[in-house]
Amino acid sequence: MAAYLSSLPRTVVTGFVLAVIVYLVLANGMIGSGFLPYFFRWLHIICGVMWIGLLWYFNFVQVPSMAQIPAEQKPAVTKVIAPRALFWFRWGAMATLITGLLLAASMDNFALVYLREALSLGEGQRAIGIGIWLAFIMWFNVWFIIWPNQKKVLGITPVDADATAKAAKWAGAASRINTLLSITMLLGMAGGSHFG
Ligand code: HEM
Repeated sequence: MAAYLSSLPRTVVTGFVLAVIVYLVLANGMIGSGFLPYFFRWLHIICGVMWIGLLWYFNFVQVPSMAQIPAEQKPAVTKVIAPRALFWFRWGAMATLITGLLLAASMDNFALVYLREALSLGEGQRAIGIGIWLAFIMWFNVWFIIWPNQKKVLGITPVDADATAKAAKWAGAASRINTLLSITMLLGMAGGSHFG
């Protein structure tokens, strides 16, 4: 068992196979009419956990630990852990956005009335609309502020020391703003089924 689980891809694929089996049991072996929204909701939550889990990892664990790490050990974080975490972080954000939009579109069989109502903060979809707009801002921050500045901090985009320090400040501020927004964003997401 331990040898089998030593492979992450094998572990993840097994997790998905188990989920499919449980779904077939729940659905009594049938793929019902509400399959697509359920499927996208499930994928959306998985991707959202990947994104926001890593956002909170950076803010609650990695950044506060840096001051305690001796200078000669810092490259283990900045050169090995952070680039890998940032890869899953930014693509988690992209996948959350895509699956969220697919979920919204599938709610009314791609008629897009639900999505338009949500985006215009219409009465029935105000909570999810607020969640989606906040998540859009957070997604923008990831792709257009955090990632370009992190590339300078990590040395992927070569810049001088002054520009590196500025980039670290911008990336740090955007990451903190996203942590702040994530709390209300999730209030809106969870409110979709509560108020809607
Ligand atoms: C990036 C843009 C996003 C879009 C377009 C989007 C869209 C949606 C939609 C349409 C729903 C369904 C609400 C309903 O049942 O009425 C939903 C639910 C949800 N979303 Fe998002 N979302 C986004 C970002 C996020 C993020 C970043 C997270 C973080 C974890 C997240 C987590 C959730 C959760 C937990 C639900 C609740 C599912 C339920 O109550 O069944 N979403 N989202």
